[in-house]
Amino acid sequence: MSHKKRIAVFASGTGSNFEAIATACEEGKIPADVAVLVCDKPEALVVERAARHGIKTLAFVPKLFPSKVDMETVIADFLDENEIDLVCLAGYMRIISNTLLSRYGGRIINIHPSLLPAFQGARAVEQAMEYGVKVYGVTIHYVDETVDGGRIIAQRAIPYEGENLEELFGLIHAVEHELYPETIARLLIGR
Ligand code: GRF
Repeated sequence: MSHKKRIAVFASGTGSNFEAIATACEEGKIPADVAVLVCDKPEALVVERAARHGIKTLAFVPKLFPSKVDMETVIADFLDENEIDLVCLAGYMRIISNTLLSRYGGRIINIHPSLLPAFQGARAVEQAMEYGVKVYGVTIHYVDETVDGGRIIAQRAIPYEGENLEELFGLIHAVEHELYPETIARLLIGR
């Protein structure tokens, strides 16, 4: 019998996407458990969220590791120990490098608040607004060695012609909280 799939979420901040994924698992909308949270900011709100859901957390301070290889080796060992099937990056503000990719490549996905390949990087929404775009969006993609460059799995467009960044972030988050759990569920059931 195949075991229930086990997800690791990586996050650095607020963790609203972490919350959406954990809740969807608890409600049976994703056929899996969020087994662990990996967080590079021990003071982040997402760590409290994980505790509330009873989810095991690896929280660390990156600069305390001698190198990125050491840090990612600890993370990959933690994923192995917890028998992780799928890694979901959700606002994890670090580039994944070869140490993790060589062990978990093809099993790491990310959510990005633009219609990739447009507007890669950390200020995607602000840049899109500066450009005057009329259709924003959300992309879920596989993670490879490029930044926001791996193969696209799902996208959803968000038409918006206003200039209120806060309002726009609200619209983007609402779409993310639906699209990420839906896409994870589709991936895990092989569609
Ligand atoms: C999301 O907008 C996601 O697209 C980006 O980082 C943000 C994380 O938000 N990669 P939260 O921490 O899940 O609220």
